[in-house]
Amino acid sequence: MPDQPNTILIRTATERDYPAIARIQQTSPEAAQWPVGDYSNYRVLLAVLASGGSQVPAGFCAWRQSTPDEAELLNLAVEPANRRHGVASALLSALEREATGELFLEVAESNLPAIALYEHHGWAKTGTRIGYYHSGKINGIVMQKRP
Ligand SMILES: CC(C)(COP(=O)(O)OP(=O)(O)OC[C@H]1O[C@@H](n2cnc3c(N)ncnc32)[C@H](O)[C@@H]1OP(=O)(O)O)[C@@H](O)C(=O)NCCC(=O)NCCS
Repeated sequence: MPDQPNTILIRTATERDYPAIARIQQTSPEAAQWPVGDYSNYRVLLAVLASGGSQVPAGFCAWRQSTPDEAELLNLAVEPANRRHGVASALLSALEREATGELFLEVAESNLPAIALYEHHGWAKTGTRIGYYHSGKINGIVMQKRP
């Protein structure tokens, strides 16, 4: 029997999802490595791959509504085996539906896959934070998306 295609479901993460989030974060060294309990301070979206009866967490993003007019994407990761299948895109689309106002994020200038993803979704580079990452060795790029 051929494999059934996965459907990407996006839902709000709860504390029960923290082990899965920790696992995905560990497989993604380019993502911020937070103590998993810190996610309770923010809004977290989880991407789940559903196929047949099974549901497997594959990616997440954390964000905050900083002001009514501004939201910030704080972290985003997709586990390596499930990349390039639209998981991050589904998370970004859900973020855009939930957040209000302008969206901001910061990304290491060396993280070309992430920058390609954000540009693919219409984010634009608006500034540089010199030496923001890795003890001053790597610049941070500020990116913005207007609603
Ligand atoms: C960056 C990351 C989140 C992308 O997740 P993903 O689920 O693979 O992304 P998508 O499948 O939704 O990609 C959508 C588009 O983004 C671009 N893109 C994504 N990954 C890319 C890569 N490695 N190289 C070039 N373009 C890429 C492409 O345009 C892609 O469309 P395509 O696959 O049709 O060509 C993932 O690689 C990851 O978790 N990286 C490690 C953690 C990280 O860097 N987080 C960001 C911190 S700021």
